[in-house]
Amino acid sequence: MNNLSKKKILLIICGGISAYKSLELIRLFKKKDVEIKTILTKNAKEFVTSLSVTSLSQGKVYDDLFNANNEVEMDHISLSRWADVVLIAPATANTISKLSLGSTDDLASTVILASNKDIFLAPAMNVRMWEHVTTKKNINKLKSYGYKIIGPQIGDMACGEFGEGKMTEPNDILKEIEIYFDYLNKNKKFKALVTAGPTNEYIDPVRFITNKSSGKQGYALAKSLVKKGFKTTLISGPTNLKTDHNIKLIKVETADEMFRATQDNLPADVAIFSAAVSDFKIKEKKNKKIKKQDYINLELEKNNDILNYVSKHNSLRPKLVIGFAAETNEIKINAKKKLLEKNCDWIIANDVSNKSIGFDSDFNEVSIFYKNEKIKDEKLTMKKKSEISDEIIDRVIKQLN
Ligand SMILES: Cc1cc2nc3c(=O)[nH]c(=O)nc-3n(C[C@H](O)[C@H](O)[C@H](O)COP(=O)(O)O)c2cc1C
Repeated sequence: MNNLSKKKILLIICGGISAYKSLELIRLFKKKDVEIKTILTKNAKEFVTSLSVTSLSQGKVYDDLFNANNEVEMDHISLSRWADVVLIAPATANTISKLSLGSTDDLASTVILASNKDIFLAPAMNVRMWEHVTTKKNINKLKSYGYKIIGPQIGDMACGEFGEGKMTEPNDILKEIEIYFDYLNKNKKFKALVTAGPTNEYIDPVRFITNKSSGKQGYALAKSLVKKGFKTTLISGPTNLKTDHNIKLIKVETADEMFRATQDNLPADVAIFSAAVSDFKIKEKKNKKIKKQDYINLELEKNNDILNYVSKHNSLRPKLVIGFAAETNEIKINAKKKLLEKNCDWIIANDVSNKSIGFDSDFNEVSIFYKNEKIKDEKLTMKKKSEISDEIIDRVIKQLN
């Protein structure tokens, strides 16, 4: 089956000698019934013409950030929204460097920075350029931002030298893109539920008790799930975070609301409970604001333990139940205890006593405790929460498959 049929690819061609190979790439995509729009950088036009690209792609070629006609028809933001995936081939050392800095001085770099899609790069350049420490650093940076790098290959170069730097052959680029869509399709059958953020337990209409949580890790997990093709529901306590439109977002405030929303949105194949749910709520919430001079004695009662409920509920239990444990001490002991007591499959523990990671930070370092005979644990060293999420979801996919 042709899994590329009707897929939309935004192809960005940069100014390198292998730009001519992109014409072959367009031809191969068209044979697979792919819809293509192309951006040529100013320098790409030194190597291929807009006319040849349009003729082959039967799609429009864009080249100017400040073209009023283009902007009316499809502006620089809509271009990446239109696409299912963005492919830069060839990706020059110059464009790679610009992307690693976040520069946006032309249409291509602006569209890429504004993109909400997965971005593939097929670098092509002279071997020395490729091996240069700056290029290596830039590529590693782009990898850490989630860009997917195809190649380059080793071989004879147009400049007469030999080495690594040749653009991957069009047929192999096409195969990589096919594998990507195949992978997304496989995961489409999976439904995921994620909880994130804190809960607010009201004392009176203006005061509440809460737990410290930014929600960033949970939101990043939902994003990774959607990116990998899962139908994803995110149940979020109060946060200021934005999320992708293709995530079903349910905003709640209290632990009771989060509990009900969780029940309403099961079954799922995987549930990840990263929310910092308040263990307690106020037994008798006051309807009117308590005055300073009033005598107050707060009586607390326990909230439902959502993770525990779902893990032990036979008919609702997802195939994979993952809990989070934010710990300040004895992380291993506490994580293992939680894993057993709550009957979940994995516990992801992080040390929140370290201020540079966890809570408000964009970085995290976690250990995954797997429930098996010996309770194996695996550490994911410090990196961006988005990267931690991608790594966790890769493991989820492996487990579900
Ligand atoms: C004949 C010729 C071939 C070139 N080939 C490459 C190449 O394969 N890879 C590369 O990174 N730069 C190559 N360059 C240099 C780029 O064209 C130059 O860095 C340019 O600024 C890239 O612009 P762009 O990234 O906006 O497309 C070549 C230059 C010339 C004159």
